Amino acid sequence: MSSSSRSYIIVGAGVFGVSTAYYLIKKYPDASITLVDRDAYDADSRVAASWDWNKVVRADYDDIVYCHMGLEAQDIFESDPLWQPYFHQTGIYWMCRTDYAQDVIDNYQKLGRKSDLMYGGLFDDADYTDVKEVLINKTSGWAAAGDCLVAVTRAILDMGVKYVTAEVNNLVFDGSGQCTGVRTVKGDIIKASHTILSTGAYTSKLLEHSARSSGNSGLQAGSRIVAGGITTGMTKLSDELYPKYAKMPVGVQGYRAEQGPFIGSLPPTKDKELKWWGQTIFRNTQEVLPGRFISMPPSGSDYKQWDISPKMRQDIDHANNVFYGNRGKTWKMEKHRVCWDAFTSNGDFIISPHSASKGLYVATCGNFHGWKFFPVVGKYVVQMLEGDLPDNLVQKWAWDREQTDPALFPDHPRIEMKDMLEQRDSRL
Ligand SMILES: Cc1cc2nc3c(=O)[nH]c(=O)nc-3n(C[C@H](O)[C@H](O)[C@H](O)COP(=O)(O)OP(=O)(O)OC[C@H]3O[C@@H](n4cnc5c(N)ncnc54)[C@H](O)[C@@H]3O)c2cc1C
Ligand SMILES: *[C@@H]1O[C@H](CO)[C@@H](O)[C@H](O)[C@H]1NC(C)=O
Repeated sequence: MSSSSRSYIIVGAGVFGVSTAYYLIKKYPDASITLVDRDAYDADSRVAASWDWNKVVRADYDDIVYCHMGLEAQDIFESDPLWQPYFHQTGIYWMCRTDYAQDVIDNYQKLGRKSDLMYGGLFDDADYTDVKEVLINKTSGWAAAGDCLVAVTRAILDMGVKYVTAEVNNLVFDGSGQCTGVRTVKGDIIKASHTILSTGAYTSKLLEHSARSSGNSGLQAGSRIVAGGITTGMTKLSDELYPKYAKMPVGVQGYRAEQGPFIGSLPPTKDKELKWWGQTIFRNTQEVLPGRFISMPPSGSDYKQWDISPKMRQDIDHANNVFYGNRGKTWKMEKHRVCWDAFTSNGDFIISPHSASKGLYVATCGNFHGWKFFPVVGKYVVQMLEGDLPDNLVQKWAWDREQTDPALFPDHPRIEMKDMLEQRDSRL
């Protein structure tokens, strides 16, 4: 296929979609590359998990593939003028309750980086119950996520990528079942030789609709993808407090799988807002079509992400307490949001052709840790599109792969969102 006859539709302009478009336009400047997203890239409010005030950037992984990718990404964050302005190298402070710290150090040694461990008591009022080790990595940090996403999107539009603001209702296929593009809710059809789904938490719902309209039930995601939501919340630090926290490291409380996911506290943004994410990752199982139940973000164009229940607030209050104890008691909690991401059973991405239709590809499932790979993930997606992905990654990220037991994965959504909504605020 010559460069100018290649055409790509990428549904979803989060980090997976935008990074893919970036690597495609760099490789094929004349190709037709269209990002389709329900939200304008510079909208005031977006549903993308990638669109956020801040995200943790680290290479500290006990999985060597993500450790390696994290190092690659961080090299770009530190040096490339497109990404560098959004990266803050504040360090990270892990309070570990497993052997995670040692596994991380072993990985850095295997990859030839020296590790400089320090033990200390920066978060002195934090909850250290059962903490086995504290891992401090001074070269990790955080990124101004939404600002970075908008800046990179703007840059690729300048390079020739097209952006269509529209909600996709379903995929469209030719007579042989090959995917030929998408149909929007308004009824417009956009066609391309390659259609890539980077639709995050919405992926299963889009595939259900596409399976129903085409009659190809093989398109359904089944247990491969579970939409999971989590609460975040912020406090605005006073002018007096801000200088003390301005250069703080990212804080992470690590737990064993039976106890639940890592929870975290992110250093203040330029608006002096310090953020937490909670410990409860929930699914939202609904009847998407008659007889079909899947977890999906709440319906409505904003996934109801700003509707916060008292239990969700409590989750953030708990996070505040285990990081700051008495110091945080008087902080006013505001700007709560539910953020939706796509989960697989073990935290691995899906970067793969879809086995039920030619021309259709899936590149998403950030599993709550995908943002930091923004500068590199698209490179791997392009390798996948061209059949050049190394064998170990083909298998690791395949659409069809063995489903591991999600109980072993601390982040896997365990409870239903309705259980987060039931308790009513007695003051109301
Ligand atoms: C609270 C929270 C904290 C996190 N913290 C971190 C962190 O600190 N570090 C880190 O590395 N990762 C973190 N993550 C994970 C990371 O944010 C995600 O893994 C990553 O952003 C997922 O990117 P994506 O491109 O797959 O999906 P998204 O960013 O969700 O993008 C999907 C896009 O698809 C669009 N879309 C979906 N369906 C349709 C449709 N039918 N039609 C049109 N458009 C559609 C949506 O509008 C959206 O823009 C966090 C996630 C959450 C929720
Ligand atoms: C911290 O992370 C960097 C990569 O950003 C790595 O090279 C280094 O070895 C890590 N240090 C520790 C203490 O683990």
